[in-house]
Formats: sequence, C-alpha cells, structure tokens
Amino acid sequence: MPSFTVFKGTKNGIEQTKTEKPELKGDQVLLKVTASGLCGTDLHYKNADMVLGHEGVGIVMELGPETTYLKKGDRVGWGYEHTSCGHCQQCLKGNETFCPERAMYGFADLDQGSFAHGAVWREAFLFPIPEGMSDEVAAPLQCGGATVFNALHQFNTQPTEVVGIMGVGGLGHLAIQFAAKMGCRVVVLSGSDRKKDEAMKLGAHEFVATKGLKELKVERPLDRLLVCTSAQPDWELITPILAPGATVYPLSVDEGDFKFPYMSLLLSGITIQGSLVASRYIQNRMLAFAAQHKIEPILEKFPMTKAGIEEAMAKLEKGDMRYRAVLIPQSE
Ligand SMILES: NC(=O)c1ccc[n+]([C@@H]2O[C@H](COP(=O)([O-])OP(=O)(O)OC[C@H]3O[C@@H](n4cnc5c(N)ncnc54)[C@H](OP(=O)(O)O)[C@@H]3O)[C@@H](O)[C@H]2O)c1
Ligand SMILES: [Zn+2]
Ligand SMILES: [Zn+2]
Repeated sequence: MPSFTVFKGTKNGIEQTKTEKPELKGDQVLLKVTASGLCGTDLHYKNADMVLGHEGVGIVMELGPETTYLKKGDRVGWGYEHTSCGHCQQCLKGNETFCPERAMYGFADLDQGSFAHGAVWREAFLFPIPEGMSDEVAAPLQCGGATVFNALHQFNTQPTEVVGIMGVGGLGHLAIQFAAKMGCRVVVLSGSDRKKDEAMKLGAHEFVATKGLKELKVERPLDRLLVCTSAQPDWELITPILAPGATVYPLSVDEGDFKFPYMSLLLSGITIQGSLVASRYIQNRMLAFAAQHKIEPILEKFPMTKAGIEEAMAKLEKGDMRYRAVLIPQSE
C-alpha cells in the first residue's frame, strides 16, 4: 500500500506525518512529489486540519489498472481540482471546475496535498509537463498560472485591449507575463513602487503605485482588470480608470461580501466576472503557451520541511516573497 510523508496545517503550526493509501484502483496514479508551489490560498488553510499544497509536480511511480496514457517516469503536475463527475452539464461543457460533484483542495482529499513526498491522484486530472520546463518552474503554474491564464483566455482577451493587473504577487507576476505575451497593453497597479522595475521587466507597459492616492490616472483606460491582491481592493478608486464595457475579474480569496460602486456599474456597463482556477483544457493550453513563450515564475526555493514551510509561509504573509515560493522535498 502506498505510504508517504505529508505536511499538515494544524492549530499549532505545520506538522509532519504519514498518509497511507489503499492499493491503486481505476485510473489512480502514485506520484513522487518533486516540487510544490506555495499559493496565497494555502495561507487560509494553515490552521485547518488538512495536508497543504495544491501546486504539485511529480514523477509517475505506479499506475492503476485503468490508466491509459501515462507511463512510469513521466513528469506531471496537478492543481486545485482532483476529480469531477464527468457526466453533468458543466463537465460536458469542459467547465468541470463548476461540477456539483467536484473534489477540490480544502474540501476533499484532506489527507494529501503537494506539501508531501507522494500523492495518489486520478490520471484524468494530471497535466504532463512540457519538455524543457523544469519541475520547479512548472509548480507555480498549476494554480497561480492556471488561474490568471484562465481569466485572460476563457473570456477571450484581445491583443488590442488594455489589461490591468492589480497586485504583483504569485498570481500577479505571472499575469503580467501572460497578458504581455498575448499582445495586450499591460498596466500594473501595485501598493508601492518597490516592484516597479521587475514588473516592467516582466512586460508591463505602465506601472501605478496606488498607496496614498485619492485618484488613479492611467494613459489609456482598462478594458479588463485582473485583481490578484490577497484582499479586496478599494473599488471606488478603481472604477474611474475602467473603460466603458470593462470587465473586472476579482480573483482574491476573501471573506465577507462584494461591495461595488453601483452607479458606476450601470453608467459604464461594467461586468464583474468571477473566475476559479482553470478547467483541464485551459490548464493544458496554459502550459503549452508558457513553454512556447518562456513564461516562468520568479522563485524563492525552500526545503520542504516543517521549518522550511513555516519560513516560506511567514515570508508570504509579510508580503516579502519575490514572487513565488517553491518547496523542494528533502530525501528521507
Ligand atoms: N480565484 C482563484 O481561482 C484563485 C486561485 C489562486 C489564488 N487565489 C487568491 O488570489 C490571491 C493572490 O494569491 P497569490 O498567491 O498571488 O498571493 P500573494 O503572492 O500573497 O500576492 C498578493 C499580492 O497582493 C498585494 N497585497 C498584499 N497584502 C495586501 C492587502 N492587505 N491588501 C491588498 N493587497 C495586498 C501584494 O501586491 P502589491 O505589493 O503589488 O500590492 C501581494 O503581492 C489570494 O487571495 C489567493 O487566495 C484565487
Ligand atoms: Zn492556489
Ligand atoms: Zn460534473
């Protein structure tokens, strides 16, 4: 029976323990984890009683009886969604992230995650890593990359449009690269100007440091805005720089209600579009696009140990990560 080290969130911090799984059945695959990203969403679960991590990359070690295309030694990634029913309207449309029977991080399979030495997942929900892309580069793409690419790609962003990216963290620094490579004009909104040089190097055309400003100014109004901050922004500040007919994609995981300047919504015909990670179809396209255009996260590596995870989480929480932590399992 497969058994592997995992790292859980608990009330008292990170705990190292073991998970044991039954013999592989159906299209299950046993993976040896080689790298895991640390996403902002993991911070919400650090005191939950569950194994953490949902930006995993690993090597196929064993295959269940009904697997069809993977073979031992293949490199694959996985993200937020573990399985879905496969037969509902959403699954049939390729929107399996909205399947009523979806199994997702934080809600299902709490005994395993990517902060681990191993994992057992369905072959149907694994993503082959393109040749030439390293495991540590591929890891943050499994959630962070997938989420921002989805918001751009699923809703048909055009190269002639101005795309705003608010928040230059794990998601935001990838979103700048994707939007720039899609040919858009990219306007970055960031708390301070500390990240300006890097944002411009990643492909931004304009950078606005928002802190202390009562009014924002941009050269051309935004047709789309991806909100990649870890908390909801001040929408009053943002609405004046949106173009008529603009779409806002609030990606931040935050508690409480969404409160938006109501008359701006009407008078400018604004659309608010929720978006959650990516379907498998879009995730595969994202990986191919990232490989072709050399879109890579800027990484800080940490050992995947209790101390390493705690250090990485503390740094992310303080806002000091540049720009995505990747945890590397240590040999036992
Ligand atoms: N919808 C989805 O499917 C999905 C998927 C993944 C993650 N998420 C969520 O997306 C958000 C970003 O994730 P991430 O991994 O990129 O996090 P991150 O690396 O912590 O980046 C968040 C960025 O937000 C800004 N920020 C920090 N503290 C803030 C505050 N108190 N108020 C407003 N802005 C703040 C900072 O950017 P500046 O310094 O530039 O201001 C920071 O770099 C999180 O809420 C995460 O849970 C959603
Ligand atoms: Zn995530
Ligand atoms: Zn379904």
